[in-house]
This record gives sequence, structure tokens and C-alpha cells, in this order.
Amino acid sequence: MRYICSVCGYIYDEAREKQAFSELPDSWKCPVCKAAKGAFAPEEKANPPKAAVAPAPAAIPAAPKGEVLEQLSIGALSALCSNLARGCEKQYKEEEAALFRTLADYFAAVTPTAPQKDIDGLAALLQNDLEQGYPAVKAAADATGDRGTKRICTWGEKVTNMLNSLISQYRQEGEALLAETEVWVCTVCGFIYIGANPPQLCPVCKVPAWKFDKIEGREQA
Ligand SMILES: [Fe+2]
Repeated sequence: MRYICSVCGYIYDEAREKQAFSELPDSWKCPVCKAAKGAFAPEEKANPPKAAVAPAPAAIPAAPKGEVLEQLSIGALSALCSNLARGCEKQYKEEEAALFRTLADYFAAVTPTAPQKDIDGLAALLQNDLEQGYPAVKAAADATGDRGTKRICTWGEKVTNMLNSLISQYRQEGEALLAETEVWVCTVCGFIYIGANPPQLCPVCKVPAWKFDKIEGREQA
């Protein structure tokens, strides 16, 4: 019998693990996203028939030309320039990549500290992304047939659900969750992993371990 994590899709295969799922202690967690044992369901029940498609949210009005960048925060500009630098690297445009990196570093240095640094504020932001942000972007991508953006939404929703799972674990365990371990972030999709070493393959976007960065210098609570 196989059991699937409803948060990240990890499969616990009893035959491979040589242990029945029911024998695992209640404190057992998903090795990928740290979701509780209760988040797992037997494989045949894990994929219920799809419910009727929810109505798409109202289309996002197109921003007038020239005003798009004005709507971005400084932090978002830094992320945008960083992504553009990576895009240039992939196309072997080293000079352009260096320029975008310089811009990204500049915007990162002048980004004001986020006003909500507490865990409730972070959870609220994630919930807002899941309830409004992703549905709106997906509807816009559907309307224009933008497959790249739809794929990014699929990754982003998965990563956001896994972050929610980590946050609920953190609420229960506090700093013990992060003691004597490392925190890794996938530089491609943003998946965050807690463990001594990064996973061999990102469970969300399937890139190899070397695409993970270790998060250094975390502020102590
Ligand atoms: Fe990834």
C-alpha cells in the first residue's frame, strides 16, 4: 500500500520502506515538507474526482503602459532584476546578467524592512496568495494561453502550501524545528527544505541538489 502526502505529494511506499504506515508513530512527519502523519491518505483515496471548476475571478485589468514598474515595491524590483539576471545567464549574456545583478543588489540594499515579520503576518500573506493571488494570475494566464505562467502558478501554489505546513509545524515546535539542522531554498521554484543536506531532487520543480542554496545568517527569534 502507498500513502500520499496531501501537501507535497511525497509517496510513502510500505513495500519499499518495509514498515506499515499504521506502525509509524504519531509524531512521524513527511520527510519532504514536515506535514503531520494525518496529512497522508491511501493512494486510491488521495485523488478524488475533480470537483466542478470554480468560476474564474474577474480578469485583471491591463495596466496602462509605463505604469507597470511603478506598481512594484522596491523588494519586488530586486526580485525582478535578479530573475532577469538569471534569464540572461541562461542565454549566455554575461554582460547583461552582470548589469541586472548590480540593479538587483542595489534594490535589495535599499528595500525597507518588511513591516510584518511575525509568523501571523507571514501566514496571512501566504493565505492571501492562495485565495486571491494565484487564482487571479492563473485566470490571466488562461486568458492569454500563457503556459509558462501557468506552470509557475502550479509550482508556486505547491511551494506555498508546503510553507503553510512548515509554519504550522513551527507554531507547534518553535525553534526546536530548526535546531541542529540546515534550511535550504530551491533557487528555481522557492521550495524550502529543512534537513542536513538538500534533497537529491526538488520535489516541486525536479532540479538537482546543487540548485539549492543554504540560508545563512538567519536572525534568532
Ligand atoms: Fe524547486
